[in-house]
Amino acid sequence: MLGRSLTAAARVRARLGSATPPREELIARHVAGRSFVDVGCLWTIDGALCFAAEDAGAASVTGVDVMGPTERFQAELIRRRSSVRFVQGDLHDPAIVAAVGRHDVVWCSGVLYHAPHPLLTLERLRELTGRTLLLATETVAETPGRRNTCVIAPGTAEHPNAAPPVGPNAGYGPWYWGISRSALRSMLRLTGFTVVEEFRTPLHMTVVAR
Ligand SMILES: C[S@@+](CC[C@H](N)C(=O)[O-])C[C@H]1O[C@@H](n2cnc3c(N)ncnc32)[C@H](O)[C@@H]1O
Repeated sequence: MLGRSLTAAARVRARLGSATPPREELIARHVAGRSFVDVGCLWTIDGALCFAAEDAGAASVTGVDVMGPTERFQAELIRRRSSVRFVQGDLHDPAIVAAVGRHDVVWCSGVLYHAPHPLLTLERLRELTGRTLLLATETVAETPGRRNTCVIAPGTAEHPNAAPPVGPNAGYGPWYWGISRSALRSMLRLTGFTVVEEFRTPLHMTVVAR
């Protein structure tokens, strides 16, 4: 009975969206005793969420990024005598997916809209995910009267933070896609994920998916 009520409450929360918890808190809810990987762990955060997962009792922690390790990340590794493992490489490269390996909990924030092929990105995340994907991404408004739309190379009309489109071969800096909420949910379904919880603001979404 209690279980059914909790499931119903989770469904309602997923439908309505609820206040996004601080990311350290969301990670802490899922990682104790589990393996954890942060994909895209460096830019402006210097591995902070890897260290947060370690503090929250993760069994093992990996950080992945196309960037090389930052000075702050390396200094923090030493200061904490941390056992966080770092893998430098592109999530889309099957050799990197193999090197990283499957983890119970995968955190990936701020990566999907920078990827030219977001379904491929989600497929790679699916390969890494043993149990739970925590995915955070910027989103754009739904198109009136039409669900599941994405905008290629969105400009500031769709999202105030969108970097100007510069085209392919520019690495993962540019925003390639403005992804609506319904499109994100459909892409997650197509790549084998089931969303169990969703937090959103008008232009941002965090999901917990299995
Ligand atoms: C916009 S930043 C987000 C940083 C952090 N996750 C956050 O949410 O604040 C994107 C990060 O993902 C990394 N990144 C982007 N594409 C990637 C890819 N294909 N494989 C690995 N890392 C990637 C970037 O180098 C950068 O550190």
